[in-house]
Amino acid sequence: MRNVDANTLTNAVIRSFDGAADPRLREIIASLVSHLHDFAREVKLTPEEWQAGIAFMHHAAKITNESRSEFVLTSDVLGLSSLVDLIASSGGTERSALGPFHAEGSPLLAVGGDLKKDNDGEAMLVQGRVLDSAGRPVARAQLDFWQAAINGKYWQQDPEQSPDNLRFRMITGDDGEYAFTTVRPAPYTVPYDGPVGDLLRAGGRHAWRPAHFHFIVSAPGHHALTTEVFFADDPYIDEDAVFGVRESLLTQITSDNDASLAQKHGLNTPYPSVRFDFRLAAATPARG
Ligand SMILES: [Fe+2]
Repeated sequence: MRNVDANTLTNAVIRSFDGAADPRLREIIASLVSHLHDFAREVKLTPEEWQAGIAFMHHAAKITNESRSEFVLTSDVLGLSSLVDLIASSGGTERSALGPFHAEGSPLLAVGGDLKKDNDGEAMLVQGRVLDSAGRPVARAQLDFWQAAINGKYWQQDPEQSPDNLRFRMITGDDGEYAFTTVRPAPYTVPYDGPVGDLLRAGGRHAWRPAHFHFIVSAPGHHALTTEVFFADDPYIDEDAVFGVRESLLTQITSDNDASLAQKHGLNTPYPSVRFDFRLAAATPARG
């Protein structure tokens, strides 16, 4: 492998992976090297620019820890995370960002339970159903939910919040229904004190995300769904810094007057309410 030139190098690198036992690894590496090299040839990448890219990754590694991944954030602001979600969506509700603030072991909340507790903010009722791809209720589906508080921070970012604040797991009944009261979350900025922040500034971009709820919805026999639910009237709905918004994931807040529901949930009438139904795709396509 001597005397490679700018055109023969790519094939030499791809062939060097021919011994990989995993055919999928061979496929991914071959395509990655091919596109990466084409990119460098296309923009005529200079040694200084290559060094700036490496410095970006060094900086990202330095600022990354267990509760913050600058690499995930890089993928997010370049739209790669969103693209992977879009490619993986196969029937059912569209996928959207997991984000960095999901935590295992959220406390169980009964259907209709109160999540807002003593959080400041506008109390609202959130309800809907978990359905299969044919629109039938999915019994005993699990919702894993988390959201930011009104200050735009998750509990991991805010010493004033308890570790169980504004997150839960809920098991739907046979009717697939879920419901809970919470506070309307606020838009927030992704961290911009690291290299991604430098990139956003250099690109003339802001770091804001529209307010959202995070859900992972799962049930036996179905693909688990990681997604987000947004509010159509949010000022950042058309300029999410991580490209997570989909038209199908928008909700409209309505002003409801159901006195018995209000009493049941400790709300005053009229109360803000959103409905969102999730559709889970079957894990194995039905036969016949
Ligand atoms: Fe989030």
